[in-house]
Amino acid sequence: MRLQGKVVLITGAARRVGRAIALALARRGARIAVHYNRSKADAERLASELRESNGSESIIVKTDLNDTRAIKGLVEAVVKHFGAIHVLINNASLYEKNAFGSTSIKDWDSHMDVNARAPFFLSQAVAPVMQTQGEGKIINIADWSALRPYADYIPYCVSKAALFCLNTALAKQLAPQIQVNAIMPGPVLLPDNFSARARKTAAQATPLKRLGSPEDVAQAALYLIESGDFITGAAIPVDGGRLIA
Ligand SMILES: NC(=O)c1ccc[n+]([C@@H]2O[C@H](COP(=O)([O-])OP(=O)(O)OC[C@H]3O[C@@H](n4cnc5c(N)ncnc54)[C@H](OP(=O)(O)O)[C@@H]3O)[C@@H](O)[C@H]2O)c1
Repeated sequence: MRLQGKVVLITGAARRVGRAIALALARRGARIAVHYNRSKADAERLASELRESNGSESIIVKTDLNDTRAIKGLVEAVVKHFGAIHVLINNASLYEKNAFGSTSIKDWDSHMDVNARAPFFLSQAVAPVMQTQGEGKIINIADWSALRPYADYIPYCVSKAALFCLNTALAKQLAPQIQVNAIMPGPVLLPDNFSARARKTAAQATPLKRLGSPEDVAQAALYLIESGDFITGAAIPVDGGRLIA
């Protein structure tokens, strides 16, 4: 699929990895719907940057993905503005440390809602649009920890494992018009509050002995959209080898 003129909805696009994906896709001529929840100022800044630097038509749309009923409205707003959606990138994510003994039902539900339930209902909402167009791609940003979970982040890891399963199931469900693939990042952009020591440990835990970057994820997304037309149901690790370490 050539990106020139195509409409891409990216969830959680205002900052960090989502922002890098938006910039990379807009450079290829895509029109970007920047979804955000709390980061309104960042979303506005990104949208004007996309317009000024790439001439890319861009809108921002706010939705709390904990609220599944709002998802249909998000997709309708994008279709109303652009008249199409060619690519959905399920990037938004909740990543919180939850000590085993004090993990609450709310901790569990909010990870599952944002990281697994929302991607399902977003896919359900965009599928008819893509099927009418005769083409579409869905990219789920999962995590290497979907396959090798670690302690103290169980709701997060389980939600990403659910997203990994959803990726395979959607690839079967939505073929042949829509290709569905996942990217499994490793440490590409650690949370701002990680100490220097924690950063070093994360880098050393990869066979490549370094951290990646948001652009590494963006390049994988570009590949899946523009080159990977015979790929569906795949999950590509972009993790410096962390999964196999
Ligand atoms: N960074 C890494 O090294 C790494 C490693 C492995 C996997 N990943 C995966 O790669 C993706 C991007 O990573 P990241 O570090 O950039 O993610 P992030 O900063 O943790 O989160 C991305 C965005 O998700 C949105 N979000 C969170 N809760 C939401 C809610 N209830 N409703 C709507 N949006 C919500 C937030 O948007 P607002 O700010 O607008 O509220 C946030 O900016 C994620 O799926 C992550 O799991 C990242």
